[in-house]
Formats: sequence, C-alpha cells, structure tokens
Amino acid sequence: MRIFEELESEVRGYVRAFPAIFDTAKGAFLFDEQGNRYIDFFAGAGTLNYGHNNPIISNALIEYLQRDGIVHALDKATVAKRKFMEKLYDTILKPRGLDYKIQFTGPTGTNAVETALKLARMVKRRSNVIAFTNGYHGLTMGALAVTGNDFYRDESYGARNNADSLPFDGYLGPDVNTIDYLRKFLVDQSSGIDMPAAIITETVQGEGGINVASLEWLQQLEQLCREFDILLIVDDIQMGNGRTGTFFSFEEAGIKPDMVTVSKSIGGGLPMAILLMRPELDQWKPGEHTGTFRGNNLAFVAATHALTYWDNDDFADAIKYKGKIMEEELGKIVEKYSELEIELRGRGMVWGLDFERTGFAGDISSEAFANNLVIELAGADDNVVKFLPPLIIDEETLREGIAIIDQVIGDLLHRRQQVLKGSTA
Ligand SMILES: Cc1ncc(COP(=O)(O)O)c(C=O)c1O
Repeated sequence: MRIFEELESEVRGYVRAFPAIFDTAKGAFLFDEQGNRYIDFFAGAGTLNYGHNNPIISNALIEYLQRDGIVHALDKATVAKRKFMEKLYDTILKPRGLDYKIQFTGPTGTNAVETALKLARMVKRRSNVIAFTNGYHGLTMGALAVTGNDFYRDESYGARNNADSLPFDGYLGPDVNTIDYLRKFLVDQSSGIDMPAAIITETVQGEGGINVASLEWLQQLEQLCREFDILLIVDDIQMGNGRTGTFFSFEEAGIKPDMVTVSKSIGGGLPMAILLMRPELDQWKPGEHTGTFRGNNLAFVAATHALTYWDNDDFADAIKYKGKIMEEELGKIVEKYSELEIELRGRGMVWGLDFERTGFAGDISSEAFANNLVIELAGADDNVVKFLPPLIIDEETLREGIAIIDQVIGDLLHRRQQVLKGSTA
C-alpha cells in the first residue's frame, strides 16, 4: 500500500474504505493479489451491472483488438459506433417507442449531465435549473451546482450558480406532496425561484441514500414540466441499464423525459456516456459541444454486446426475481434487529439499509469488508448501507453476501451489548 499512500493524492477514497490491492475480477467476485475472494456488492458504483469481465463482453473486446479495430476516433464514423447505435435503437429505443437522438459526450457521467444542462439552457434561453435535495449528478462545475451534498461543494468554487434545490419526494415527510410545493414556487413570480430551463432528477437517488421517488411523483413531475414548459431531465446514470428492473428506471412510471443521461453500465464496464434527447432539442451547431474521448470504440463494442442481455425478457425477469430476494432477505434483517430501527428502501436490485438512528452504517461496511464483502455507503451522513450487486450475480452468491451483512450486524450488536454490560458492571 505504500506507494498509494506516498504518491497518490489525498483525495483517494475507496482505497481507504476497501484497503486491499485488487488484481483480478470475475462476475460478482473481486480477488486481491494474495488471491483472497471478495463478493462485490458495489459493482463499480453501478458500472458493472453485467459483472466483471463478462465473457460476452471481454471476448468481443479481445477479438476487436486482435483484428486492429479502431480504438480512438473522436466522433468520426466507425463500424463499432454504427453497430452500437443500431443495437441501441433496435433493442432498447424502438421497442419502447422512444424516438431519442443520441449525443456521445465525454465518457463519464458528469460529462453527460453537463451536456444536458448546457443544451437545456441553450434551447430554453433560461439559465436556471431545478434539482432536488440529496440529488447527485457529478462533480464538474455544472453538475456540482445541481448536486445536493455539501461535502462535495465548497463555497469558494462558486458552483451554486443558476441552480435551485427543492424537496425530493418524501423529503418533507409522507404527508407533503413536494410537487404541489414546487408548483407554488413556479406560480408565484415573487418566490425568488426563476423559471428554470430544466428540472433534473434521479428516479432513485443512489448516492443520496436510496431515496425512491414514487411512480406517481414522477408522473406529476412530468406533468408539471409540461405545464410550465420546462424540460425534464432524468439522470439515469446509476439507476438505468436495468438496475431497477427495466432498462430505463422511469419506464414503470410511463413517463417520457425530454432528455436522459446514461453512463456507468452502458459501456459494459468501460468509460462511456451518452445523452438521449427528443429530436427537436438537438439544436447544436456541428462541433459546438465537443470532447476528445467521445469516440471510445472499445466501449461501443462492449456496449453493443452488453445490450444482447435485452434481446428478450429473461434478464429483466431475473432482475425482478433477485430483487424480490433482496427485498425479502433484507426485510428479515430489519425485523431481526428491530432495536436498530433500520429503514429499508429500494427498487429492483438497488436497496439501502438506513441506520440513521444508530449510526451503525460505517462499522457495517468496514466489518463486511473484513468478512470479504465489498459494500458501499450512501446518504448525506454515510448513514445508508447500499446494496448494488452486479445484476448477473447468481442467487447463491447474492444470499451469501446478504448473510454476511446479517452476521456482521449481529456481531456488532453483540459487541456493543458487551461494552454496555462492562460499563454498567
Ligand atoms: C445519478 C448520477 N449522476 C451522475 C454521476 C456522475 O458520474 P461520474 O462519476 O461518471 O462522473 C453519478 C455517479 O455516481 C450518478 O450516480
């Protein structure tokens, strides 16, 4: 670890939470250089929905490289890019009746968000954007302005320009409809909230703590946007690509966002991001928004093969099946340790155990790692243990990982009771 500590910037994060030197990985497993096996419930923060080194993807990549397929091409036309667009259109967009155009942005999520915000402002000739409490949209300046958690923001960045944060679904408690609340601000021209070009939202806030917007809330949000001529941007970077059970996380709500940002697992584990937009919004002049790494052809090859998972309903059915197991097994944990007042939230194959009341989450993640399970935290105060396994995980490994969490909570509680007993003895 010495070189990481001495040479790498203090900004490093996950290496501190998961202090091993990883070497190989397959499916839902990571292996460190000593060969120790870890179950991966983190999945590259949602990048590895199809698992590590999925052979469908890696064999295609090896073959592509061996035949000297073009790797870097900016936005020149390539066979790999054509195949990806054809596959996305035939397999995902057309069957869902979505006539989106595709913009290839720089290859990270925040690039897609920047692009969406810039285009929305340009099209609507308005600078304000509304985002939601606890939203996470990336850490470049525009995306940072619509990201809630102040850990990432410093007043000196001046990044809060042209963005307002309003309450997400449930933020004001179960009895307040936050869409009505938002409507009031838009109707009242003295509210101090400028009419926005766009509203950006996640359907399930990932980094924000697995806060799930109800389907009705999403429908009402769409309605509100239509009413006030505001563009609706769904940031599907973490919750898309099947995470909630359908390819796009908004499908169940039956809404059609004006723009959708997609990244993480779209590239089958390789860097890639796209912006999907209604065709009439595509008002760019040629080359007006550019970037050197928009033509990552290896990612296009990976993405094209990853999308074969969506050729029929089997994958979506499997996600629903395993999602149900997660909900049931985690529900049992909530009941078993009722004194911890854990809250369970989630959809599909993304679930969170919220330990806000007891502040146990950090200990659980580090103890889980000591027991060879990689699992991340989320939420404003890192109060949520976030279950994000690869979607291709087999049932046995899924249950094994959840059982580790059960055991870790039990051990931690036992130890805490011992300490309490000791201090009263
Ligand atoms: C919803 C959402 N948007 C945007 C981003 C930023 O993506 P990236 O880290 O690739 O810039 C993330 C990353 O976690 C995300 O979860």
